[in-house]
Amino acid sequence: MSVNVFRGRSLTVIEDLSIEERRYFFKKVRQLKDAILANDEATLDLFRIDDPDFGIYEVFLEDSTRTKESFRNAAKFHHAKVSELMCSSSSINKGESYADTFNMLSGYSNTIFIVRSKVEGLCRYLDEESAEYTRRNSLPVKPAFINAGDGKHEHPTQELLDEFTFLEDNGMDFSSLHLALVGDLYHGRTVHSKADGLKVFDHVKVDLIAPPELAMPDSYVEKMKENGFEVRAFSSIEEYLECGDIATKWYFTRPQLERMGERILQKQDELRKSITFRREFMDRLKEGTKFYHPLPRHKEHPTIPTFLDNTSLNAWERQAINGMYCRIVLLSLIAGRIGEDYDGPVREKRNIGDEEYIVSVDLSKRSKEVKNYSEGVHPIDNGIVIDHICKGDSPSEIRAHMRLISSVLGIDEGRGGEWISRGADGQYKGIIFRPGDYELGRKDLKRLAAIAPKCTLNIIKDGKVTEKYRTHIPPRIYNFDDLCCTNDACISHPSQGEGVSPSFERTPDGHFACVYCGKFHTYKEIWKRRG
Ligand code: CP
Repeated sequence: MSVNVFRGRSLTVIEDLSIEERRYFFKKVRQLKDAILANDEATLDLFRIDDPDFGIYEVFLEDSTRTKESFRNAAKFHHAKVSELMCSSSSINKGESYADTFNMLSGYSNTIFIVRSKVEGLCRYLDEESAEYTRRNSLPVKPAFINAGDGKHEHPTQELLDEFTFLEDNGMDFSSLHLALVGDLYHGRTVHSKADGLKVFDHVKVDLIAPPELAMPDSYVEKMKENGFEVRAFSSIEEYLECGDIATKWYFTRPQLERMGERILQKQDELRKSITFRREFMDRLKEGTKFYHPLPRHKEHPTIPTFLDNTSLNAWERQAINGMYCRIVLLSLIAGRIGEDYDGPVREKRNIGDEEYIVSVDLSKRSKEVKNYSEGVHPIDNGIVIDHICKGDSPSEIRAHMRLISSVLGIDEGRGGEWISRGADGQYKGIIFRPGDYELGRKDLKRLAAIAPKCTLNIIKDGKVTEKYRTHIPPRIYNFDDLCCTNDACISHPSQGEGVSPSFERTPDGHFACVYCGKFHTYKEIWKRRG
């Protein structure tokens, strides 16, 4: 019997489904939509969960109309048990943790949770957390979590319905897409999901249209480029229309005033103008152009003005309707009702690497020339010397980071000092000297590699270097109690109070992405500030 790889899967970010799995999904949505339009009950029954005890639970900790109601109607299509947590009167308001709340609800025969929250990475955390609860309480199934939008991070089901609508307008052709993203690209989670979502198309060209205050964060632009997309940026629609090579698909997003600081809010009229379509632009559009929008539009200041509702540009209404079809299919897949015939690759995790990043140097092969590290004017008899710190940075940056290294490694006390030298290549580097008895275990070396990659550690005994290690950039940094994601909306941030252990993965360009909220950091930024 073939295994249904979709059954019980969570969708926390769009990358939780492989490209082939998403392509399979879109074909199923096409099939379902055709059956609905044709009243083909026999085909619809193939999708239906048809189990009044199958629990689908909506937990919307932030406002929603489309996502919540389309999921509710999708669940009703399935003849399933549909529940909703009344968040304003739940024990979350009495300080109960998310883990406790969701674990409890999963104990009441609920199999799929649909979760919207301001807290970024919440579904990923709940997905991990629920595994233990399921085991401890011998529940028949581990619940699945669908991210219905988490802060500025992702909105993977919106991504699926957006792409389905682009595909409908492309004749279900995956070969290429030229898309203009217009609006608040900084705060809009639906456009952030596009950095990985659009990988379902073989060739992608993305035009980013936003004033600098609302520009796409660098980490998403970086990801788009890594994914092979051609990316261009413009600061207004007017500037874009001058470029000559404009897209036929325009995806607008609303300025997310509720997420903006006071400084940006003061400029809202000016910002809105640069991303609002105007009547005078009409004859500069290419034939066949379609406009999309995740909705809602602002009632007073819609960036797609209402005079366009009754034109052929309007694809946003069909897009919203497609939301329910896509969500019916997603529930069907996670329930294991469909998907058994899929035999392609499952969730392609980014290859981060698992190479050794602390390399012991073979001292027997070194030149006979003896290097004496000194403690001020005295040579060091016993101790440690960390060399090549932050090579290439400025002296003040190196000095600041050496203070952090000393604190993180717990070598603030005792004798010794820090030094900055300049090599023949003109580059500065830092050196930390610590005479004394130091025993560094594997965990200390891992901490050293995490906070000082590309350095060397010399262990000196009786005036000789007896051990020497080179550190490289680790693929993952986790399991240290003094790590901290810098995004205070992230589930792992201490201000969330959930006690989630921060964890970071190396990106191809050498940053560290938080595994929960995806925020990129340098290796210097992931430590709780000290002293
Ligand atoms: N597009 C979208 O997520 O809409 P809602 O906020 O109404 O769910």
